[in-house]
Amino acid sequence: MLILTEKQVRSLLDDDDSVVLDVVRQTYVRHAAGKTVVPHSVFLRFGDDDRNRIIGLPAWVGGEEQAAGFKWVASFPGNLARNMPRASAVMTLNSTRTGQPEAFLAASAISARRTGASAALAAGVLAPDGVDRVLLVGCGVINFEVLRYLTSTCPDLRQVALYDQDPGRAEVFGVRVEQAWPRLRCRTEDDLGAAMGRHDLVSLATTATRPHMDASACRPGSVVLHVSLRDLTANSILGSRNVVDDADHVCRAGTSIHLAEQQVDNRDFIGPSIGELLADGARHADPAAVTVVSPFGLGALDVALAAEVCAQARAKGLGTWIDGFLS
Ligand SMILES: NC(=O)c1ccc[n+]([C@@H]2O[C@H](COP(=O)([O-])OP(=O)(O)OC[C@H]3O[C@@H](n4cnc5c(N)ncnc54)[C@H](O)[C@@H]3O)[C@@H](O)[C@H]2O)c1
Repeated sequence: MLILTEKQVRSLLDDDDSVVLDVVRQTYVRHAAGKTVVPHSVFLRFGDDDRNRIIGLPAWVGGEEQAAGFKWVASFPGNLARNMPRASAVMTLNSTRTGQPEAFLAASAISARRTGASAALAAGVLAPDGVDRVLLVGCGVINFEVLRYLTSTCPDLRQVALYDQDPGRAEVFGVRVEQAWPRLRCRTEDDLGAAMGRHDLVSLATTATRPHMDASACRPGSVVLHVSLRDLTANSILGSRNVVDDADHVCRAGTSIHLAEQQVDNRDFIGPSIGELLADGARHADPAAVTVVSPFGLGALDVALAAEVCAQARAKGLGTWIDGFLS
């Protein structure tokens, strides 16, 4: 059994952003081609507490390098007040030959990086050519990772506008961004609607559990990466072009897409999947519509990225090996 700590996983992920983007791109394309198996995520909640949860995501990724495993990811938004991250995760990878567990990894970084990469890949094919500014709503772990990969998929990006319900978090986030990517300039916003109207690329990564905003301020041609899935009203969704990762997954768990489906009793408002858009290598910007991207987050992405991380760890002799973990 190979055991990898969070620090070891992070050091491997930090090596090369393009590897993470490639793994996520290829996995989306495989998913769109029916070469993955991604059962529905299991949501464990605690009585009538609608904030805290632990989600289980099993998945198999087919192809030449098959991989199978499970992510168990907890979300406790109140952890921020304890100076702890909201999310924490572990993963197991199993042999696709014998079924035996082969690796056990700290997976918070895998989860956050695959989420950031998936949103950034969608932006790369949907956002207007040459987009040079982005508005990040919610200044936490996920939007930092979205920005990390946007610097690759939207290389003209120079200005980052920040909005958070806690303005102090936006300030601190801005300092971190300018240290990490000196070519980016950050500013904080206090009027969300006005800021939405000035940006063709917006990423929502808040911890809202119910819709609290609409997309009416957005200009035609703009792209909203709705990573947190529950911010926009159902009417905003119905008035937009919608791109998802998997319609069966995202029409669950009270997402805005799910609420829109319940409102009209069909899924006709859902357009192509991210995997379908990435498959042909072309751009798919629509200057006439507001495009909302709602990636539910597929376990296949976690499994594929974890498999890549483990392969790199084995090649570099990183991690702890436990012989006889299963007798
Ligand atoms: N779709 C996916 O695949 C996927 C994967 C991972 C996480 N997520 C989601 O991304 C979201 C962000 O995760 P995170 O780890 O960055 O959380 P985080 O707690 O680190 O950061 C969230 C930030 O949003 C701010 N915020 C909360 N409500 C807000 C509001 N109404 N308006 C403006 N700001 C608000 C908070 O103050 C905080 O700074 C979560 O909802 C999480 O469930 C989605």
